[in-house]
Amino acid sequence: MTGARPDAAKRPAPAGEGAPGNRVLVIDYGSQFTQLIARRIREAGVYCEIHPPARTEEWVREWSPGGIVLSGGPSSVYGDDGPGLDPGLLALGVPVLGICYGMQLLAHHGGGRVVPGKREYGRAALRIAESETDGGLFHGFRSGEELAVWCSHGDHVDEPPPGFTTVGATADLPVAAFRSRTRPLYGVQFHPEVAHTPRGQEIVENFLFRICGLSPDWTSGAFVARWVERIRRQVGSEQVICGLSGGVDSSVAAALVHRAVGDQLTCVFVDTGLMRMNERTSVERTFREHMGIRLVAVEAGPEFLGPLEGVSDPERKRRIIGETFIRVFERTTRELGTHARFLVQGTLYPDVIESLSVRGPSATIKTHHNVGGLPDDMPFELVEPLRELFKDEVRAVGRTLGLDNAFIRRHPFPGPGLGIRVLGPVTAERVEVLRRTDAIYLEEIEAAGLYDEIWQAFAVLLPVRSVGVMGDSRTYEHVVSLRAVTSRDGMTADWYPFPHDFLARVSTRIINEVAGVNRVTYDISSKPPATIEWE
Ligand code: XMP
Repeated sequence: MTGARPDAAKRPAPAGEGAPGNRVLVIDYGSQFTQLIARRIREAGVYCEIHPPARTEEWVREWSPGGIVLSGGPSSVYGDDGPGLDPGLLALGVPVLGICYGMQLLAHHGGGRVVPGKREYGRAALRIAESETDGGLFHGFRSGEELAVWCSHGDHVDEPPPGFTTVGATADLPVAAFRSRTRPLYGVQFHPEVAHTPRGQEIVENFLFRICGLSPDWTSGAFVARWVERIRRQVGSEQVICGLSGGVDSSVAAALVHRAVGDQLTCVFVDTGLMRMNERTSVERTFREHMGIRLVAVEAGPEFLGPLEGVSDPERKRRIIGETFIRVFERTTRELGTHARFLVQGTLYPDVIESLSVRGPSATIKTHHNVGGLPDDMPFELVEPLRELFKDEVRAVGRTLGLDNAFIRRHPFPGPGLGIRVLGPVTAERVEVLRRTDAIYLEEIEAAGLYDEIWQAFAVLLPVRSVGVMGDSRTYEHVVSLRAVTSRDGMTADWYPFPHDFLARVSTRIINEVAGVNRVTYDISSKPPATIEWE
């Protein structure tokens, strides 16, 4: 979110997200990069939403976007199952940018030729047509410049439709970018949204500001003001309950709801027995003592560990933890006598997209328990003030709300907690081994000044034992793996290259200080093909 963006700051009272005509509709054809497109647009200070291809022309007209982006996707425009495009969308007069499959759809509909090819990934050099460097998609680029772009496609456009001009080509792609000469329709075969297209953000911004004429009014201040109003309207004089996990999302959600309805909010911190070291103390100190939020802490470890006994399947663990969480809430609110009607959840936009499969053809990889695992008979109405936000936008909102930086900078922590980091069966003893390992690891990361360079760092307890030797005796004990990744958004990630002396120090401390661990490994897998969590 662009709270600090100077040109946004100069504007009059921002109309905010969802202002008709000043928002972008991203139609998702199933690309793994669709969320990245949305993030690039939001980073430019423009609100956008991702919707499935089934949206009709009428729906779109009503929603009133100022620009439309057609994402990439795994299908072929010639295939029977390839999701289509309502041609009415192209006649609205709203600028359209087709990316990869989106471009092929534009070509196919306009009477151009799309040819099948083998799936290719990789960097290419785009030669830009001179006509496009002044006011077009490539405004501000040098004419004749070779631009580094990243492609991932099977089919490609061989011949642009009548009335279209080719405005960029690579060695392998004769039509790598095109535009209509009569309508505001643009297509690129490469992916401007990925980091491997280094000047991709400029291309996105040229589309938003030069072609669509949008203004950057998506700011965290405007977001807070609007949601304070919305929450007041939704909640009225009713009581609200919030499950505070100590993570960034629930903390920011609680702070926002507290700003809106003050003491109508009661936060409940459920100690699931699956939290990190000292989690409870730090949450209590910050929220109850510093922020004056009404906070009840519930000790519920055995209630979670009981049903988890003997369960190894990660998705079952998530379901059990999600359901138990809600039951504890129900009981707590009953006992408190607050008669809360509303429940605050720190659900984020990526959760919404994944769990509701708005991504259409692309698959859900993991169920995130704060959305997918809620029981149907839940007696609360949800207040989800962050469900339109990406993680970095949540942090910006947290800063606007004056939340302690110690909370804002925290690495993401999954709802099911250490339950999905103890691989295999979850027992109190194994959780404790992991908790102590994790604490040492994070302490060393902080001491080395590396915490803020890392997106997420944590330890995992493996479901194997290994032979070791301690003194003169043979040991047969736990193995832990350490994970640290850098990422922009959790969707893709690289493992963090710690200095060897750091790894040596952490390993020595863990083996010396955590009874029951005799082997430490470091996970050097990126996402994809691995995921960040092991389960
Ligand atoms: P993966 O493991 O899918 O994780 O690469 C991406 C991000 O999501 C977090 N994560 C979860 N968060 N409930 C949550 O609230 C879950 O069940 C869950 N699983 C993964 C993960 O920590 C990372 O930040």
